[in-house]
Amino acid sequence: MDLVVEGRLFFAGGLTDGCVGIKNGKIVKIAKTLGSQDRLSLPNHIIIPGGMDMHVHFREPGMTHKEDFYTGSKAAAHGGTTFFLDMPNTRPPTKYLSDLMEKRTMAEKSVVDYGLHALLGPVSKPQLAEEATGWKWYYGPSTGAEAWTDIAMAKEVLASFSSFTTLHAEEPSLLDNPGTDLVGHDLARPVDSEAAAIDKIAREGIFGLHVAHCSSAQALYTAKRAGYSAEVTLHHLLLDTGSDLGGYGKVNPPLRKKIDRKALWQTFLDGGSVVASDHAPHTMDEKEQEFQLAPAGMPGVEERLPVLMALAKRGAVPIERVVDACCEKPGRLLGLDKGRLTEGCDADLAAFDPRELKEINEGCVNSKCGWTPYLGQEAIFPSHVVARGKLVVEKGSFVGEKGHGRYVGHADAPSGEGA
Ligand code: DOR
Ligand code: ZN
Repeated sequence: MDLVVEGRLFFAGGLTDGCVGIKNGKIVKIAKTLGSQDRLSLPNHIIIPGGMDMHVHFREPGMTHKEDFYTGSKAAAHGGTTFFLDMPNTRPPTKYLSDLMEKRTMAEKSVVDYGLHALLGPVSKPQLAEEATGWKWYYGPSTGAEAWTDIAMAKEVLASFSSFTTLHAEEPSLLDNPGTDLVGHDLARPVDSEAAAIDKIAREGIFGLHVAHCSSAQALYTAKRAGYSAEVTLHHLLLDTGSDLGGYGKVNPPLRKKIDRKALWQTFLDGGSVVASDHAPHTMDEKEQEFQLAPAGMPGVEERLPVLMALAKRGAVPIERVVDACCEKPGRLLGLDKGRLTEGCDADLAAFDPRELKEINEGCVNSKCGWTPYLGQEAIFPSHVVARGKLVVEKGSFVGEKGHGRYVGHADAPSGEGA
């Protein structure tokens, strides 16, 4: 064995003391005790599968002053995330096969494994679907992405070459110009617009979609009724229009009222949805502008798991739900041997010492954008992170290697609910 990691493992749905044996980047054995010279003994640490973040914007190419595949993947590693799925609203957007192939080369500097979404639209070709991990369909418009509302044509494209497809669901006909503050932004892109979009697309007989960033319980129910899998974000779970973030809190779909946020949290606790970060870094200068001019989006790839682990410690959410939403279910949805502490899976692990609970401050930020909307929130950052068998974080410091990450290619659309 190359490495044995020992601690309190999240195994078979609960926590138990044990060892994970690793060889050639895979988990080869899980047992109470395992012998090996190379061992990482982490008593009292909770060891869960490495996080899988199904929704990040690492801004390469075109906006590498905000993030790039190296800095973004490093930030992910600091947050215990060992896989990310990047979005296509870059400059240029990932629209043609050549765009994707160039992006694949750029992403080779990633320190953790990754997938890349291609942009679904009128020029989409089968070869692009074969080479990308999946599609991103912007049915609603957002930062750097035009909406594509031709449902009939999208149905044809998706039927002719099936791929995992993430939907940005905001009904464009219900959207207004941005408001002047968070309350106005919520009204301008109303909470009903998500359910309206999901319903409309489902009624046209498109199956097997994955709905990104559901900002309300209503959107989650509607996705479930349509048989779609669904994602919520950390920001929609924890932040609302009552926050004092101003332009920093501007995001699409918007932060909602506290009452809507509470209902979303409850529905998330009930199970089914995954949690992604929708890590969308913008510069502080851009965010400091007048609200209407500030671009929408906020970072979160490194805060997602640590904040949820702190909430689990506080008893606000069961750890099983955190692991399911952040690690296991994303792996299942993408059909990967990842996201589970199971023999045969990739050796992606994150170890958390519950005694290391702290409040997030500016010093916690590794993302190139240099800010976080989660200042003051409690978090437990992982002390050690293993990505496909290699230590990438040790005692909280980055020890990973540029280029260690590997591309995960084509993922099929989940059959049935995929949930
Ligand atoms: O607020 C958002 N920002 N929503 C998106 O859909 C895109 C993202 C970005 O890329 O900045
Ligand atoms: Zn996004």
